[in-house]
Amino acid sequence: MAYETLIVEVEDYVALVRLNRPDALNALNSRLMSELAAALTAADRDDNVRVIVLTGSEKAFAAGADVREMAGKSFTEVFFDNLFGPEAEAIGRVRKPIIAAVSGYCLGGGCELAMLCDFIVAGDTAKFGQPEINLGIVAGMGGTQRLTRLVGKSKSMDMHLTGRFMEAAEAERCGLVSRVFPSKDLMTEVMRIAQKIVEKSAVTALVVKECVNRAQETTLAEGLLFERRMFHALFATDDQKEGMAAFLEKRQPQFRDK
Ligand code: COA
Repeated sequence: MAYETLIVEVEDYVALVRLNRPDALNALNSRLMSELAAALTAADRDDNVRVIVLTGSEKAFAAGADVREMAGKSFTEVFFDNLFGPEAEAIGRVRKPIIAAVSGYCLGGGCELAMLCDFIVAGDTAKFGQPEINLGIVAGMGGTQRLTRLVGKSKSMDMHLTGRFMEAAEAERCGLVSRVFPSKDLMTEVMRIAQKIVEKSAVTALVVKECVNRAQETTLAEGLLFERRMFHALFATDDQKEGMAAFLEKRQPQFRDK
């Protein structure tokens, strides 16, 4: 399917979804958000996709929600439209792993979108921020909640209250980002990471995602029980038999997602 604000390519079981509003540093307008929700939902349903990579341009992953589009809106308009709610929820429902590959500006809604993904890898030029306070608003797509869970209260407060930008190295140190690469190597490296995941059992990968996400949603006791039951459940799969047999026979496993 062709999109106006995205470029989507599927190759070797990886869907590469590129935000494509270069004139506005990939600012998230309503068109982009609805196309993104549709593209990620379609990738989730596509048997030729096992992993999704979401990226922007070298200059910007996304510089936030589209201020030009939002500026004149009233409370009742954004409230009745539930601005960003349905799209963020649709992205949150995607079951396959989504990796955010971030270069350049990753601000406001852009940072929130990256945090909606399962993990973030960054180029060394990446700049993260939640500068909504400078516009007289607060984050609205999960920023105050997800950033706080990822980096702790103190740094999250600092980011949201001052609106400052955080460089890639600091983002990696505080756990917002899993790995940093030289920006020129970012796409090669992220595709390499995606291929590593493609090689695993797709069943197991989905279970891993559900288990880790549970850690953000529930108490430790509930999360531990959920994980243990999923661990037990995977013994019902052929892929568990194959994975363990391959280890003992000192060969690469051939997973069949069964
Ligand atoms: N919404 C709408 N348009 C945006 C935008 C946003 N969030 N961020 C950037 N743009 C547009 C600019 O208006 C400009 O368009 P123009 O050429 O038609 O004027 C274009 O993208 C390039 O941005 P510009 O500001 O000229 O680039 P820069 O390199 O000088 O600065 C930023 C880059 C990211 C520091 C700056 O664009 C910025 O602060 N953006 C807003 C960040 C923000 O507050 N995000 C949270 C929104 S809730």
